[in-house]
Amino acid sequence: MGLVKTFPGRGGLLGHEPVRALRGVDFSIPAGGAVSFIGESGCGKTTLGKILTGLESYDGGTLAIDGQDVRRLPAGRRRAAFRRIQMVHQDPYAALNPTRTVAQTLSDPLRMRARELSRDQSWIDGRSEDLLRMVGLDPGFVLPRYPHMLSGGQRQRLVIARALTVDPDMLVADEAVSMIDVSLRLGILGLLRELRRELGIALLFITHDVATARYIGQDGDLYVIYRGRVVEHGPTDVVIERPVHPYTQCLLSAIPVMRGLEDAGPERVMPVSDEMAEETPCLFAPRCPFATERCRTEVPPLSHSGGTPQEHACFYPVPRRVVPVDRPVTQVGAGPRG
Ligand SMILES: Nc1ncnc2c1ncn2[C@@H]1O[C@H](COP(=O)(O)OP(=O)(O)OP(=O)(O)O)[C@@H](O)[C@H]1O
Ligand SMILES: [Mg+2]
Repeated sequence: MGLVKTFPGRGGLLGHEPVRALRGVDFSIPAGGAVSFIGESGCGKTTLGKILTGLESYDGGTLAIDGQDVRRLPAGRRRAAFRRIQMVHQDPYAALNPTRTVAQTLSDPLRMRARELSRDQSWIDGRSEDLLRMVGLDPGFVLPRYPHMLSGGQRQRLVIARALTVDPDMLVADEAVSMIDVSLRLGILGLLRELRRELGIALLFITHDVATARYIGQDGDLYVIYRGRVVEHGPTDVVIERPVHPYTQCLLSAIPVMRGLEDAGPERVMPVSDEMAEETPCLFAPRCPFATERCRTEVPPLSHSGGTPQEHACFYPVPRRVVPVDRPVTQVGAGPRG
């Protein structure tokens, strides 16, 4: 069964209703692979990332790392399993201690690693420099500096270097570039891709942005989450070029199509209203232009239909495709309504 997480209502103005952050999210990440999760704000992305890194508990489903149910591991081995999955947060500034220099930021976790590997201080110093170079920072420049003396992009690189101190098998990048200057984003995304290629580190990429998901996860799988449930899943390029679920189509119609001309297809609308909180069996039904009575009485299962390579949870899927063109497109359309 997939992961389930329900938060108790916070009370007060925010309401007493429990928040169903994850409603059975099933996924797997191959060693060295790249998997992206995409969905709008509040759909449960960060909750999922935190569960994977051991920062949040879950109340249903099974989390297996290397095929082993982490709940069945003794505490020490569970900690070790979670340590191999490191999180890179959205806000690199908040993730760093402002009173520690870069050298101190890296040497703290490296000292622990050195003990495990029976290495000495010179190993720690050398490893600090290697890791900084690996993430594209100049050790001579950054080592004596404090986080506030670095740019947003440099800080995120430092956060990534710190994550690498424990030799992780996987990085969970939660909106890792959304708070970084647009001009520096591509560099960070490129770095994550490179770490995957060079070190074989698997990548779980969490984003609300289709373009970054595509850049990072081209050869991997994309999961589209809506209100804590996966509504579409498949190879990243297939899902982006031929989205089947109406929600995925809405998400994609919000961005310009960069690599081709979009087939206009049926109009996709996504009104936002109070009805969003409605607990219909298909959670998207209140916002879906194609919803029928059936969507309000049965939960559409995640399955393949009509020979599509991806799975989707919709009774009445209308595939829409983005038609690749050979020539560069100078005029970029913004979807069927744009
Ligand atoms: N500690 C908590 N207590 C109560 N509710 C919570 C808690 N953490 C998250 N939630 C709720 O769970 C839902 C999912 O939150 P989550 O942070 O995982 O969303 P997200 O997809 O990461 O959103 P965003 O794109 O805005 O970062 C939201 O409705 C959120 O308000
Ligand atoms: Mg989040």
